Amino acid sequence: MSHHSRFSPRSVLFGGDYSPEQWPESVWREDLLLMREAGVNIVTLGVFSWGLLEVDDDRWDWDWFDRIIDLLSNEGISIDLATPTASPPIWLHREHPEILPVDRRGIRYHQGGRLQWCPSHPVWQRYARRIAERLGERYGAHPAVTMWHVSNELGGGNRRCYCTASTSAFRVWLENRYEHIDAVNSAWGTAFWGHRYRRFDDVTAPLDSESAQNPSLLLDFDRFSSDALLGQFRLERDALRDAGVTTPITTNLMVSPSGSVADYASWTDDLDVVAIDHYTIAEDPRRERELAFVASRTRGLDPSRPWLVMEHSTSAVNWQRRNAPKSPGEMIRNSLQHIAHGSDGALFFQWRASASGAEQFHSAMVPHAGRDSRQWREVVELGRRLAQLDELTGSLVERSEVAILVDDVSLWAWHAGQKPLHDHPIHEDARLWFDVLSARGFGPDVVPPSSDLAGRSLIVVPSLYLVTDTTAAAIEAAVRSGSTVVIGPLSGIVDADSRIRVGGYPGAFRDMLGVVGEELVPLLDGEQLLLSSGAQMADISARLRTTTADVVEVHRGGDLDGLPAITRRAVGAGAAWHISGLVGAGFDDLVDRITGDAGLARRLPTSDDIEAVRRVSADDSWLFLINHGTTDAVVPADGTDLISGECADGRFALSAGDVAVIRERVEKRATRPV
Ligand code: GAL
Repeated sequence: MSHHSRFSPRSVLFGGDYSPEQWPESVWREDLLLMREAGVNIVTLGVFSWGLLEVDDDRWDWDWFDRIIDLLSNEGISIDLATPTASPPIWLHREHPEILPVDRRGIRYHQGGRLQWCPSHPVWQRYARRIAERLGERYGAHPAVTMWHVSNELGGGNRRCYCTASTSAFRVWLENRYEHIDAVNSAWGTAFWGHRYRRFDDVTAPLDSESAQNPSLLLDFDRFSSDALLGQFRLERDALRDAGVTTPITTNLMVSPSGSVADYASWTDDLDVVAIDHYTIAEDPRRERELAFVASRTRGLDPSRPWLVMEHSTSAVNWQRRNAPKSPGEMIRNSLQHIAHGSDGALFFQWRASASGAEQFHSAMVPHAGRDSRQWREVVELGRRLAQLDELTGSLVERSEVAILVDDVSLWAWHAGQKPLHDHPIHEDARLWFDVLSARGFGPDVVPPSSDLAGRSLIVVPSLYLVTDTTAAAIEAAVRSGSTVVIGPLSGIVDADSRIRVGGYPGAFRDMLGVVGEELVPLLDGEQLLLSSGAQMADISARLRTTTADVVEVHRGGDLDGLPAITRRAVGAGAAWHISGLVGAGFDDLVDRITGDAGLARRLPTSDDIEAVRRVSADDSWLFLINHGTTDAVVPADGTDLISGECADGRFALSAGDVAVIRERVEKRATRPV
């Protein structure tokens, strides 16, 4: 962490992206009245305002910006001031089209859209540094500017650039990582197809080719691209600091269950607060679970600090297949879910719904219909509820005994090049485990493999395809000292260079598990894998033999009939389980056996429809209870609901769709299996 300043709001943050430039100043006055009515305490300003601030090369128009900053400030509303680099001005692209990114076919993008720049281009870097510096100099000391927001969703439009500047930067990156070209040849296995490099200048960005590419090259290019985007963050952050900014600086990450554009686990040290944008998918009937998974991943990036949901939507978005509105009450549940999982605020894209432009059909806090609308009434209601929760800012989600390891670099490695099955959603395994362990009240933490495994009773390693030697050793050490570990299908197959760990799958864990996988066995359409217990596995299995493991279940039928499907081996003070396929129907008993093996006790009163999460501080604890279902429920709890003021004495009545935040009675805190 750059630790210039800690992010420690005294109130739960509530507000959103504010674009006053889209409206006449008469509307600004109405905005301020409405912000007061809703209890908004912070807005993100200037995200897309570059072209209206720097109206031509080094010609500035600050007046309107000064005015809105003063108006907000007088109203007591804090400003999260953005550097507007997500959308460069038209004149910049006209003068310097060379900053536009180039795609993998070698075709340069055009002006229009956003994020239309290459982070490695020196001309781009010069202009980006200057706008950040000017903003920092002008507003760095303004008391209303309480935090800074670098660019917007870095990589969300320019994830990989293949231009000549990127190629040069990639060569430098490789030289730093490998020092000598022979080390690259060896890491990438370039003897294959005789693609040996003589010098770093021989390497190019992996531009398109009709046949397959080297997976190790593709993976390193993804790593480089992530670092290039982090470089952009650092460049702007340093410009702000050099200009005298002392308040927290962050950027809004896009933590996604299907893989993120950057390796955020390697970014968090640079961020004064981890902030994410999250949008539920209307077509997903259990979208609240997807939200919980993403929120858990986010807090897992740095469990020592609260984080911030920088953007979510009050209702419909404009970029899905069918942009259905949120159901009544859903937005309030979504916001409180994020806060339950450790966010110290609930911010939205955006404050007022745009009348024009690319996002004119996106919902907002103030909808097109204005104040007399369900959306607005819910926004006001959310503001009222958040105002009851200020006491829990700074608290953290209680550490779980259960860790699920998830890693985007591993996901990239899986997607780089040809694989035994191409449509396997590699994070799906993690989501399934997250759901089954959440439903049992264990409140699992979803963490990067580099995180501290000490004290975890259960460690789930679901489809962690790439595993470094360090991670493999850390997992084995945890098992030896007493953890139970579950190694899922496709885990530990390749090393950090994406090279197969030969000798039998899963190479990184073969000895610890006491199994040898001879072949991976992806299922064909319509095929099912049945196990001796009657349970089913999905997607993939392996032809396994045991060396030192005990067989827990075998396959029934098909080519794998009678061969091990699930194994267990006692290792030191712990146990190592292996499941060779994706968990499917009928796995309840097995999950119970594994959690029993790990000695887990239920900590949270969760059920299928009731989500429960506990935040703790040194002296207090708060139990969030969220009823996602359509029936009223009675949930075990002790304390006082901060939202309704009602007391819970062993039981709390939670209506369908409702949320409670119970400040728990201290004497009941010690250890609390429910
Ligand atoms: C986010 C982006 C916002 C807005 C929003 C719409 O990804 O940061 O600027 O476009 O999506 O859902």
